[in-house]
Amino acid sequence: MKPNAVLGLATGSTPQLLYRELVRMKLKWSRVKTFNIDEYVGLSEGHPQSFHSFMWENLFRHIKIPARNIRIPDGNAKNVEKFCGTYEKQIRAAGGIDLQVLGIGANGHIGFNEPMSSLASRTRIKTLAQQTIRDNARFFGSRSKVPRHVITMGIGTIMEARQIVLLAFGVKKSQAVAGAIEGPIAARHPASALQLHPHVTICLDDAAAAKLEFASYYRDTFQHKPVWQQ
Ligand code: GLP
Repeated sequence: MKPNAVLGLATGSTPQLLYRELVRMKLKWSRVKTFNIDEYVGLSEGHPQSFHSFMWENLFRHIKIPARNIRIPDGNAKNVEKFCGTYEKQIRAAGGIDLQVLGIGANGHIGFNEPMSSLASRTRIKTLAQQTIRDNARFFGSRSKVPRHVITMGIGTIMEARQIVLLAFGVKKSQAVAGAIEGPIAARHPASALQLHPHVTICLDDAAAAKLEFASYYRDTFQHKPVWQQ
């Protein structure tokens, strides 16, 4: 719908499903710009577990997007603080993000904004929570090999996207999803900030929705859309 869209992209096994579908749709990417939400600090770009590698493997090498239109945080920046400021400027210079894709961590993080992240935070360096290290150890072979620090867009950065789509599947995400959608707006549930955003679409399977108190209401509104939305 928007050939020159600016997309915010996430990594993880959940967005992989979306990227596979986008590749299948054979869309026109020549004018699209992308900003990835996060990257590990200290991994070489070519490291198999870097988010650079993930994005090229799962999306970029399958589509015709100009490499100059792709931005992924530089986990090897000499001056990380300076880099983070530049990243924010690049997002603004691109006109801001039209559509931000999000997954959610089992502990409720979005991007790598761990619980207790400021809900007004900007792109910056963060320290991974032990649960995130445990959850991501599966990709590194052992916990000790998981980087401790990351660069991530902040919650404040994410909230400036004009539209947000959050994907979550499986029972492991049910607690984080309930906290995000129906919990109090609090730093302990970073994704709860999305309750203050005007345009968020959350796609769940039944397992991830299992702890939602108002699930039947959401299903009703989805199944009984006003005529003009059908
Ligand atoms: C990582 C990423 C997040 C992602 C989360 C869940 O921590 N930084 O952006 O949402 O993992 O990943 P998965 O979709 O594999 O469960």
